[in-house]
Amino acid sequence: MTAQAMGTTAVLKANDLQFTYQAGFSLLPGGRRGHRAVRGVSLTLGQGETLGLVGESGCGKSTLSALLCGDRRPDAGTLELFGEPIANFLKPNRRRLARILQVVAQDTLGTFDPRHAIGRQIEEVLAIHSIGHKIERRDMAAEALSAVALPVAMLDRYPHQMSGGQRQRAAIARALVVEPKILLCDEPVSALDVSVQAQVLNLLLDLQQKRGLSILFISHDVRVVRHVSHRVAVMQSGRIVETGPTTTVFAEPSDPYTARLLAAAPQGWRGADPSTVTDHRPIVAEREPC
Ligand SMILES: Nc1ncnc2c1ncn2[C@@H]1O[C@H](COP(=O)(O)OP(=O)(O)OP(=O)(O)O)[C@@H](O)[C@H]1O
Ligand SMILES: [Mg+2]
Repeated sequence: MTAQAMGTTAVLKANDLQFTYQAGFSLLPGGRRGHRAVRGVSLTLGQGETLGLVGESGCGKSTLSALLCGDRRPDAGTLELFGEPIANFLKPNRRRLARILQVVAQDTLGTFDPRHAIGRQIEEVLAIHSIGHKIERRDMAAEALSAVALPVAMLDRYPHQMSGGQRQRAAIARALVVEPKILLCDEPVSALDVSVQAQVLNLLLDLQQKRGLSILFISHDVRVVRHVSHRVAVMQSGRIVETGPTTTVFAEPSDPYTARLLAAAPQGWRGADPSTVTDHRPIVAEREPC
């Protein structure tokens, strides 16, 4: 089912994206030796939907994410946000893109500046985008932390003084402070233990419902993708081999690779009621305090 068929507008549309890492010159005559990490990927993200992107390690998920957020330029193919080519959002700088599209990565320690407290880093994002007056920004940063259920005292913590789950929430707070329309989450919970994973996933689902965010949720963990996604795209060796509503893909995979991926998933997901996905029921009902 396409985003349009779900009755939503496409906020992101990729058509036949290709990307090769140039890894040096081939000894063979005839050209360069490179790794074709993304091979003709087309996908659509609808307004207010979560599209799960799942596939084994090394299949090209993060490379695709880098293309979708403008960090890398595709060798071929087109990418539109809200019907405009992505290039329009990158000129004269990336600020216009950052207002509508934010990324939450797996390595939150690496994405924060270790020299500054979290509050200051959120205030800086607000300043870059000229959001609020200088004196208001501290309060805005505090509000952003409360939205992800972090205490205001965390404003003065340095990244290394936070737990992985707290830092992941802070990363989500920093991403959402500019009120983006699209969130690209690349393995946002993979580094967290199961109970903290559940907290962060619940938080994302809550925020999505409140703010109507569109989320591309990337994970190698099919169970996590199943719980958060309206639709799912399955990636293998740089290609999308199957796309569809999560319930359909998980109940009746049409591609043999999807079937193998699901069969290899840890026990537990198969016996569950597929309707939990469309209900968006969280993995744990109660959110634990951080
Ligand atoms: N900078 C790079 N130069 C050359 N090859 C790279 C580079 N980055 C990634 N690759 C290769 O491209 C392929 C896709 O990598 P990518 O990081 O996109 O995979 P992934 O699906 O995100 O994997 P994971 O689930 O482990 O994060 C891999 O084979 C990887 O080795
Ligand atoms: Mg990756």
